[in-house]
Amino acid sequence: MRHTVTKVVIPAAGLGTRFLPATKALPKEMLPVVDKPAIQYVVEEAVRAGLPDVLFVTGRNKNALENHFDRATELESILMRKGDEERLSKVAESTGLANVHYVRQGDPLGLGHAVLRSQAHVAGNSFAVLLGDDIIDERDHLLERMLQVHDQRDTNVVALMEVDPSQAHLYGVATVEATEEDDVVRVRGLVEKPERGTAPSNLAVVGRYVLKPEIFPVLERTKPGRGGEIQLTDALLTLAEDHSDGRVHGVIFRGRRYDTGDRLDYIKANVQLAAERDDLGPGLRAWLREFVQTFED
Ligand code: UTP
Repeated sequence: MRHTVTKVVIPAAGLGTRFLPATKALPKEMLPVVDKPAIQYVVEEAVRAGLPDVLFVTGRNKNALENHFDRATELESILMRKGDEERLSKVAESTGLANVHYVRQGDPLGLGHAVLRSQAHVAGNSFAVLLGDDIIDERDHLLERMLQVHDQRDTNVVALMEVDPSQAHLYGVATVEATEEDDVVRVRGLVEKPERGTAPSNLAVVGRYVLKPEIFPVLERTKPGRGGEIQLTDALLTLAEDHSDGRVHGVIFRGRRYDTGDRLDYIKANVQLAAERDDLGPGLRAWLREFVQTFED
């Protein structure tokens, strides 16, 4: 199916402080998950959904990211000389994957501010925002579903997942109303990282958005919120509250998501994804079985 959305924005300018010192000289989106940087999985997801036009919003240490999606001529010629076709194809994989563009964020003033930097590139059209540290399993089709809901309802769309109430304070949390579709809700309220025990629901916003250009003037007016940052959640709240007919909808995602921005979840993501691979899975699963025994008393 062809969608009205053609462009993807991937903000990768955050400081990644939860991952220091690994992120001292490397964007956290470049940390490897098994053997690929997290952000490559995200670009592959965009391409699978038919959106190969990708704008990265970059910050400090952007070189590693740019180099990853560019040719690596010296490395390629060495592998070619060795006749190592397999590794050569791995090097080339990320180069031709998408049509990539870059814009600098300047100061890391928050996700909302990073999205604002894409305004000229998306040129008055709706666009998708994919967070580079959130991986959605390739067997699940969240982005495609969100694009469909955007096209059918002419609305902004956020991805929502049920989380354990003890984890709600780590996310943006939504107040919602049901629609006639089981996996689609109307978003009535949003709060970024609510104080523990005050979350209005257990539906957390995860790193996929399909946004209409109406978000930009709202972002321009949005004052710094939680953490002194311009929050995308706050701008979406303004839109959600503005109209009774629902300018923000949520797609409830019940599939597999790997959060690579958090250390524990990052380790889990590596184990889960490696355990399912044909090359690494058998060895890892056998070792894991033995390893867990060592914890049992
Ligand atoms: P996070 O909330 O995970 O923040 O950003 P962070 O600064 O990257 O990481 P920690 O919390 O310090 O460890 C969510 C997404 O928004 C991007 C990040 O790169 C990440 O993909 N972001 C955040 C920006 O691009 N710019 C910002 O100013 C803030």
